[in-house]
Amino acid sequence: MSRRGVVIGSGSALPARIVTNDELAQRIDTSDAWIRERTGIAQRHIASEDERTSDLATRAARAALEDAGLTPDDIDLIVLATATPDLTFPSTAAIVQSKLGITAGAAFDVHAVCTGFVYALSTANAFLTTGQHRRALVIGAETFSRIIDWEDRSTCVLFGDGAGAFVLEAQDTEERGILGSMLRCDGSMTELLYVDGGPSATGTVGHLRMQGNKVFKEAVGRISSAMVEAAKVAEIPMSAVDWFVPHQANQRIIAGVVKRLELDTSRIVSTIARHGNTSAASIPLAYDVARRDGRIKDGDLVMIEGMGGGLTWGAALFRL
Ligand code: UT7
Repeated sequence: MSRRGVVIGSGSALPARIVTNDELAQRIDTSDAWIRERTGIAQRHIASEDERTSDLATRAARAALEDAGLTPDDIDLIVLATATPDLTFPSTAAIVQSKLGITAGAAFDVHAVCTGFVYALSTANAFLTTGQHRRALVIGAETFSRIIDWEDRSTCVLFGDGAGAFVLEAQDTEERGILGSMLRCDGSMTELLYVDGGPSATGTVGHLRMQGNKVFKEAVGRISSAMVEAAKVAEIPMSAVDWFVPHQANQRIIAGVVKRLELDTSRIVSTIARHGNTSAASIPLAYDVARRDGRIKDGDLVMIEGMGGGLTWGAALFRL
C-alpha cells in the first residue's frame, strides 16, 4: 500500500458577468470570428469590482467541500495557485482559510501562473504523502481581468476570471490517487510572458505582456513531453487515460497536443469556449464541469496538463 492524495471532491465558481466576443469588438479592433478561429473562445466571465480572487476561491472551496461531504474543520492544508492574489501579502490561501473559518493547519500560495494548479496539486500531494497533513484544499483562482491591458487586443480577448478547487485526502491505496506528476520550468524565457509590474521592481501591479505566437510555438512540444513523462512516472500507458483535462489557453494548442500524441478527441475536456483562459483556475474549472455533467466517473484515470509564464509547464495523472 502507498499513501497518496486522493481527489474526493471538486467545486468551481465563476463571476456572474459574461463578456462576449461581440461586446469586446465594440470596444477594441477585433471580431467574434477572429477570436473564435484563433482561440476557440466565445465568451469569458469577468469579476465585478468588489469580487476578489479570494471570494471566487472560497466559493469554489465550499462547493468542493460539499461535494466531498466534508466541512471546513476537516481541512488541515490549503494550497492555492494564483498569479492574481488579493494582496501582496498575506497569501490568498490565508485569506481563504479565514473566510472558511479555519484556524488550524497550514495555508500558502503557489505561483506558477497557468501551470499553477498542476504545481499546487503535486505540492499538496507531497505533503499528504509524508503524513504531515491529512486533507487538503487545492485551489486555482484568478482575477486576470485586473492585470489585463484592455487596450491590447492581442491579450485582452484571451483571459477570464474564475476558480476551481479539489479536496485531496491522504489514503493508503494501490489504485487511487495521484499516480505521477512532472513539473518543469525554464526561467530563461521570461520575456515571452510576464507582467510588467510588481512590488520590488516597480511598486505597481502592472499589466500582462505576451508574445503570443512565440508562446504558442513552445507550448505543444513542452506540454506533450510533460504528459509522456508523467505517464512514465506513473507506469501507465497514455492509452489507458480516460480523460485529459488540459489548461484552457487555446483550442489550437489542445488540438496540437492531441495530434502529436495521437489522443482520442472525445476524451478531451474543453471549456475554453465558455471560460476563456482563466490561468491557474482553468484545469479545476474544466474538471468540475466534466465531473458534474457525469463524463468523469469514479474509477476514471485523469491527466491534467498546462504551460504558462516562467515558462513553467507540467502534467499530473490521478485515478478517482
Ligand atoms: O496560458 C498561458 C499560455 N498562453 C498561451 O498559451 C497563449 C499562446 N498563444 C496563442 O494562443 C496565440 O498566439 C494567440 C491567440 C495569442 C494569437 O494567435 P496567433 O495565430 O499566434 O496570431 P498572431 O499573434 O501571430 O497575430 C496574427 C495577426 C496579427 O496581425 P498581422 O500582423 O498579421 O496583420 C495581429 O495583429 O492577428 C492580429 N491580431 C488580432 N486581430 C483581431 C492579434 N490579436 C487580434 C485580435 N483581433 N484580438
